[in-house]
Amino acid sequence: MSLQFVTTNPGKVREATEYLSEYVEVEQFDYDYAEIQSDSLADIAARGAREAFEAAGGVDPVIVDDAGLFIDALDGFPGPYSSYVEDTLGVERVWHLAEGLEDRSASFRCTVAYADAETVETFDGEIPGEIVAPRGEGGFGYDPIFEHGGETFAEMGTERKNELSHRGRALDDLADWLAKRE
Ligand code: IMP
Repeated sequence: MSLQFVTTNPGKVREATEYLSEYVEVEQFDYDYAEIQSDSLADIAARGAREAFEAAGGVDPVIVDDAGLFIDALDGFPGPYSSYVEDTLGVERVWHLAEGLEDRSASFRCTVAYADAETVETFDGEIPGEIVAPRGEGGFGYDPIFEHGGETFAEMGTERKNELSHRGRALDDLADWLAKRE
């Protein structure tokens, strides 16, 4: 049996393989599921996983992930709308929104949702940090403006970022759950 990671991003599949290969073979299922609109990453990911499980044939389990940047003093903005805000405002303007704030603490959060014929389970991961002026050439998305431990995610190597990241923490919890289920 293999686990289908529903994503258009092969980098996410590589990352998931690092965490899960002991328990299950991870394959990419290149499918663009309909995202519901909700303030909750877990609701969005759970609904996506259920839909994608059926679309994948209803046999092999699937996972989907949904992530976002949550700025505390902006009540969690852009949160589940991070992708839309990245495409519209752009990362530089999100920095300018945060620049005037006294408290620039933020977090990246991720929910990985697992679906099979019996159940849908969600696993959450979070990493705290601070919004800073853009620095660094690596990574993607909001990485240049998210600082953790003195470095932005765009300044860290991929390995270090994966060790720390919100997605890694959620995948770690999923790995524990799969281990207990075996
Ligand atoms: P997705 O759920 O992985 O598609 O991510 C949603 C949005 O959050 C996109 O705009 C991503 O660029 C952003 N995002 C998610 N994870 C990260 C990350 O690790 N670094 C930077 N941006 C991220």
